[in-house]
Amino acid sequence: MMIILLFVLALIPYCGGSVAIAVSTTAKWSSASNSSKILAENNCTSQQESSSLTYLVDTTGSMSDDLQQLKLVNGWLLDRVHARFPCGVRQYTMVEFNDPTVGPVRVTDSKSMFGDFFNSLVASGGDDCPELAMGGLELALRRSPPNSFILVLTDASAKDNNNMTIVNNVRSLINTTKSQIFFLTTGLCSDLNDPQFLIYRELAKLSFGHVFQISLSDLGKAFNYLDFALSRPANSSVRLFSGEYSAGNHSDSFPVQSNFTSLIITTDGSIYSIRILGPGSVDVPLKNIVSEIWGSMYVVKYPGKGIWICYIYAGGPHSIRVAGFTASNISITTRCSECHANATCEETLGILQCSCKDGFIGDGFSCSDVDECAYSWSNNCSSGICKNTIGSYTCDCRPGYTKSPANTCVDINECSRPDLNNCHALAACINSIGSYSCVCPAGYFGNGFFCSVDECSAGMCGIGMDCIKSNVSFSCSDPCLYHTVLDEPWRSTTNTYLTRYNCDTDKVGWYRFVGAGGVRMPESCVPELSCDTHAPMWISGSHPLLSDGIVNRTACAHWSGNCCLWSTTVFIKACLGGYHVYKLNRTPVCHLTYCTDPSTVSDSPTCAADEVKKSINGTYQCQCKDEYKVSALSEIRPTLTCENQAVRATFQKCQLKTLNIDVQSINLKNSRCFLYKEDNTTNTISILSPLQMDRCGMQLIRNDTHVTYTNTLYLSMESGDLIIRNEELVVKLSCTYQLNMQVSLNTVLHPFVSSTNISIGGTGQFTAYMALYKDNGYLSVYEGAEVLLSSSSILYIGVFLDGVDLSQYAVVMGNCYATPSSNADDPMKYYIIQNSCPNRQDPSITVMENGASSKGRFSVQMFKFIGDHNLVYLYCQIHLCDLKSGSCAPVCSGIRSLSLGDSDYSLSVGPIKRQDHLISGTDVTRAPWILLLSALLLLANTLIV
Ligand SMILES: *[C@@H]1O[C@H](CO)[C@@H](O)[C@H](O)[C@H]1NC(C)=O
Ligand SMILES: *[C@@H]1O[C@H](CO)[C@@H](O)[C@H](O)[C@H]1NC(C)=O
Ligand SMILES: *[C@@H]1O[C@H](CO)[C@@H](O)[C@H](O)[C@H]1NC(C)=O
Ligand SMILES: *[C@@H]1O[C@H](CO)[C@@H](O)[C@H](O)[C@H]1NC(C)=O
Ligand SMILES: *[C@@H]1O[C@H](CO)[C@@H](O)[C@H](O)[C@H]1NC(C)=O
Repeated sequence: MMIILLFVLALIPYCGGSVAIAVSTTAKWSSASNSSKILAENNCTSQQESSSLTYLVDTTGSMSDDLQQLKLVNGWLLDRVHARFPCGVRQYTMVEFNDPTVGPVRVTDSKSMFGDFFNSLVASGGDDCPELAMGGLELALRRSPPNSFILVLTDASAKDNNNMTIVNNVRSLINTTKSQIFFLTTGLCSDLNDPQFLIYRELAKLSFGHVFQISLSDLGKAFNYLDFALSRPANSSVRLFSGEYSAGNHSDSFPVQSNFTSLIITTDGSIYSIRILGPGSVDVPLKNIVSEIWGSMYVVKYPGKGIWICYIYAGGPHSIRVAGFTASNISITTRCSECHANATCEETLGILQCSCKDGFIGDGFSCSDVDECAYSWSNNCSSGICKNTIGSYTCDCRPGYTKSPANTCVDINECSRPDLNNCHALAACINSIGSYSCVCPAGYFGNGFFCSVDECSAGMCGIGMDCIKSNVSFSCSDPCLYHTVLDEPWRSTTNTYLTRYNCDTDKVGWYRFVGAGGVRMPESCVPELSCDTHAPMWISGSHPLLSDGIVNRTACAHWSGNCCLWSTTVFIKACLGGYHVYKLNRTPVCHLTYCTDPSTVSDSPTCAADEVKKSINGTYQCQCKDEYKVSALSEIRPTLTCENQAVRATFQKCQLKTLNIDVQSINLKNSRCFLYKEDNTTNTISILSPLQMDRCGMQLIRNDTHVTYTNTLYLSMESGDLIIRNEELVVKLSCTYQLNMQVSLNTVLHPFVSSTNISIGGTGQFTAYMALYKDNGYLSVYEGAEVLLSSSSILYIGVFLDGVDLSQYAVVMGNCYATPSSNADDPMKYYIIQNSCPNRQDPSITVMENGASSKGRFSVQMFKFIGDHNLVYLYCQIHLCDLKSGSCAPVCSGIRSLSLGDSDYSLSVGPIKRQDHLISGTDVTRAPWILLLSALLLLANTLIV
C-alpha cells in the first residue's frame, strides 16, 4: 500500500531585515572559551556572527522518522556551512514540544554538541493530532537570538491556535526579534482551510518565512535555503518583497534600490510557473536551486536596480518572498592567485572575492570536491547508479531506464513504440518501472512474446481438431497432420497365422494405417485368431466422411464366440488425402489388436468442403467447386473479416491448390507479425493482422467518430516444382471501427489508456483501466504515443473496471498525482487526489465520481511543472471496495490519513505535453522556465499520433 507522506519542509534564507536591527550584543549565547577555540581551530583572525539556528521539533510518537532525517540533514547542512564560512559562529537551539508539555530547550554554539542533541530526542506520546505548536513556538522565539531561523518540524496542525494569549505573544515576538519561521510540515490533521493550519501561513507571512508541505525525503532539498543563508554573516540581507495569495494568476512589482550581490526568490504552495522581469521588463535568467512541487528557490546574481516584476500562475494558496543579499566580507582577497584552483575570482563592487565552483565546497581559498552521491538530495540520480567525480557526478542508468534531458534516469516506456519491446503482435504491452511485460489476449496462451490460440484450455478444439501434445505443450491440432503411422501388414484380417500373439495395450493417440495390410479398420466382425492375434478388433459402425469431422465408434474384440466380448471407444476422422486417422485407446487386455481391411489398400480420395470429386480418365480426383475455381494468382479473392483484435483475410486452400501452391509455403513479408489459422472444415487458411498501429505495417486513419485500419498483405507463393515461380499477391485490407472506449480497449489500440490486472480471491482476474478523455462525456479517448494540450485544456481522467461483476466493486482512487517524468516515484509530485480527497489547494480540480461505482472520474486544468519540464504524467493508486460491505465513497473531512485497502494497484497515463505560447517574442528555448500565464489562442486538443 502506498501512502505517500506529505511532508514539507520549510526553510529559508534570510538574514537581517530592511529595518536596521541591532543584533544585540547582549544576546548572550556564545561562551568566550568556545569562540576562541573556534578561532584557533580554523586559523580565523576574528569570528563572524551568523544568524542563529533554532529547531522547534514535534516529538510526538508519529515523528520518529522525521527526527532521524532531520539529524541527517542537519549534519549535512552544518558541514557545508562550516566549509564555506569557517569563522562563522552562531547559536544553535533545540526546542521540543509534545503533548501536553513544551520544552526542554537546549542551547549551544558548538555544532558537534548540537549534533548530539538529536540523539536525546525521543518521539513518544501525543497520539492525537493536532499538537501544541504555538506554545512551542513562543518558547522557541523567546530563547532564540534576534534574526534567527526557526524551523518548525511537525506532522500536525496546531491545536493551541485559539489561545489568544499565546498567539499574540508569538506575533509580538516575531515583530520584535525579526526571526524568520519556516514550517516544515510532513502531515496535517485538518484540511488546508482549517484555522489550525492557517495559523502557520499567517505566522510564516508575518515573519517572512514559509510553509513547506514536504515529503520527508525532500527535507534535504528544503535545507538548501539555509545552506545559502547561514554561510554568511548576519545582517547581510534585506527583505525586498513578500506576497501571499490564493490561486490564480497575478503579477507584482517591487523596487530594487541597492547594490545587491544576489536576489533570492523563494516560493511555497502549488505554483505552476514563475517568471521574473528585471528593470526594463527584461527576462532575467534564474538560477534554479530548488524546484519542487512544494516550493522553489531561485537566485539572480547582480540584480539591476529598478522596478522588478514577477508573474506567477498557481493552482492554490502560495507565497513568494524576495530577499536581497549584500556583499559579505568573507573570502575576500587582494590577489586572485590566492583563490583555489577550483574557485572563481569575481570582482563585486570593487572587492575581489574567491568562491568555489559548482561541485566544490569551501571558502574559496580551499575547495574540496562535493560527494554528490553521499546524500540523496544532492543528486538527481534516484533511479540510477550515482558515481562521484571530482567536481561533479555521473548517473548510470540501470537496464530499462534511460537518461532524460535533465540527466536523470527515467523509466523507458517500452510499450510506447513497437521497436522497444518484443511483445507478440497480439499481446498487450504493460509498462512497468524499469521493465515491461507482455500479456496474451483472452483466448490465447503464451508468454506474451509469443501468443497462440489456446483452444486446449478452452476445453474444446474446433471441429475436426483435437488437443494433441506437440513438443512440450498441448495445442489444438489436426490429427490428419499429427499422428503416428502404423504400417504392419500383419494387421490384415486375412492374416490368420499366429506368429506373434500381438497386443495393442500400448497404442494411445492418433494413428494412421498404411501399407499392404490395408488403410482402414474392418467394419464387420473378424474371425478369431486373425490379424496375428487371438482376439481381433473391428469397428462397429461406418467410417466418417470428410464433412463429419471426428466421430466416435465402438471397437469390438471377437473372442469366445462373442463378436464384441471386449470393447473400447475409438475416434475416427476422414482426412483430405482420402485416408482416415484413428484415436486408439489401449486394448482392454492381451492379446487383442486393431485390424485393417486389406480391401481398402487403394481407395478413392475424400474431398474437402470446397471440392467436388470428379472422375477423370477413370480415376477419381478432387477439384475445386466452380465458385472457387481460379486460373491465376490475381484471381484469388480472400474474404475479409473485421474482428475485435485483428483484420482477418481468409483464403480457400483449394484455390491455392489449383494453382499448385503448397499451402504450407505461403510466406508473408514480415510474417512474424501475423497469425495463421487453418480451418479444415471449411478448408481455409486465415491470416490475422493485429489491430495495432505501426505493427506489421498496420496504418490508422481516424476522424472524430471512426478509426480505420489498413494493411497490405504480400503473399509470395512458390510452387514446389522445379520451375521457381515467385509471384506476389498484394492484398489491401481495410477495416473501419467506431471509435469509443470499448472498441479501443477490445482492439488493444494503444490508446491513451493504461491497465492493470487485478485478482480478487475466487472471482478471477479482471482489469482496471485509466484513460485520458477528450471531454466531459468521458467517451472518446486520446490515442497515440503522446498528447499535446494547451494550458486552457481540461484533463478528463477516467478509471474503470472491466470483467467483474460491476455491481459488486467500486473503484476508489486513493492518490492521483502528476509528475514531470515517467517515474511514478519522481519526488516532484503534484497531487490531484490525495488520501481519496481532491487537493483543495487547486480549485480547478473536480472529482465527479470516486468510490461510488466501478468508475472513477475527475478533471483538472492542464498545468506545467516549474522548471524545465514540459511533460505531465498522471498516476493513480486505486483500490477496490466491496460495495456490499458498506459505503465506499471517501469522506473528505480532513482526517490525518486514510489508509487504503490491502491491495492497491497503480495506473498511469502520459506523457501529456503542454503547449506553451509565449506572450510575445520570447524565445521559449532560451527561457525555458517561463510560462504562459494568460489565456491564449491555442489549438486545443491537438493529437500527436
Ligand atoms: C591552521 O594553520 C596551521 C599552520 O599554519 C595549519 O597547519 C593548519 O592546517 C591550519 N588549519 C586550518 C583548519 O586551516
Ligand atoms: C493559554 O496558554 C497559557 C499558557 O500555556 C495558559 O496558561 C492559558 O490557560 C491558556 N489559555 C486558554 C484560554 O486556554
Ligand atoms: C511591531 O513593532 C512596531 C515597532 O517596532 C510597532 O509599531 C508595531 O505596531 C508592531 N506590530 C505589532 C503587530 O505588534
Ligand atoms: C552601487 O554600485 C555602483 C558601482 O557599481 C556605485 O557607483 C554606486 O555608488 C553603488 N551604490 C550604492 C548605493 O552602494
Ligand atoms: C580541480 O578540479 C579538477 C577537476 O575538475 C581536478 O582534477 C583537480 O585535481 C582539482 N584541483 C585541485 C587543486 O583540487
